[in-house]
Amino acid sequence: MNDRDRNVLKTEHVCPWWLAYTFDNPIRGMFHHPGKILGQYIRPGHTVADIGCGMGFFSLGMARLVGPAGRVIAIDMQEKMLDTVLRRAKRAGLADRIRAHRCEPNRLGIPESLDFALGFWMVHEIAEKSSFFREIGAALKPGGRFLMAEPKMHVGPADFEETVRVATGAGLEPETAMKIRLSRAMLFGVRPSERSV
Ligand SMILES: C[S@@+](CC[C@H](N)C(=O)[O-])C[C@H]1O[C@@H](n2cnc3c(N)ncnc32)[C@H](O)[C@@H]1O
Repeated sequence: MNDRDRNVLKTEHVCPWWLAYTFDNPIRGMFHHPGKILGQYIRPGHTVADIGCGMGFFSLGMARLVGPAGRVIAIDMQEKMLDTVLRRAKRAGLADRIRAHRCEPNRLGIPESLDFALGFWMVHEIAEKSSFFREIGAALKPGGRFLMAEPKMHVGPADFEETVRVATGAGLEPETAMKIRLSRAMLFGVRPSERSV
C-alpha cells in the first residue's frame, strides 16, 4: 500500500482493500448479478461510471454491457483497488473498455459525460454527500441515471431516507426504489436545470 492510500484510510471512513475480498468474490454473483441489475439501463456504446468501484465487481459487468464501443470509468480513492480492477479487466479481455480514475475524497474530477453512474455500497463512506451528488448530476447526460445502492448492514431505513433527501436537494430526482439483495437502493434521474451546475 502506498502513502496516499494509507492516508485515505487513516483520515476517511472507507473500506480498506483487504476487506473488499469478503464481499467481492465469485459467490456474490449469485445475488448481485451486474447484467440483471444494470442491464435495462446500460446499452452498448454507453459511457458509464462505477464510482467507488472497489476491486471492480460491477466495473467488469458494466464493461460487458457497454460492449467494445462503450467505456467504463472505474473511480476510486484507493490506488490498490484500481490496480486490482485493471488486473482483472486484463485477465477478462476487457481492459480496453475501462479507464481507471483515482479521485480525491471530495471530488470525482472526471471530464466524461455519462449515460449512467453507479454508486454501489459506497455513498455511506462519503463525508460531503451534497457536493458528491451535485457532481454526479452535472456529469450525467440528459436522460442519464444514477443508481445508489447502500448496504442494509450499515445503513438503516432512516439514514437511507436522509441520504435520498440530500441527493434530491442536490438536484437528483428519485425515480424508482429498486429491490437489490442486502441493499437499499434508489434510481435517480437528474433535473434538467441542474445539469450544468
Ligand atoms: C464497500 S466498497 C464497495 C466497492 C464496490 N462498489 C462493490 O460494490 O464491490 C466502497 C469503495 O468506495 C470507495 N470510496 C469511498 N469513498 C469514496 C469517495 N469519496 N470517492 C470515491 N471512492 C470512494 C472506497 O475506496 C471503496 O473502494
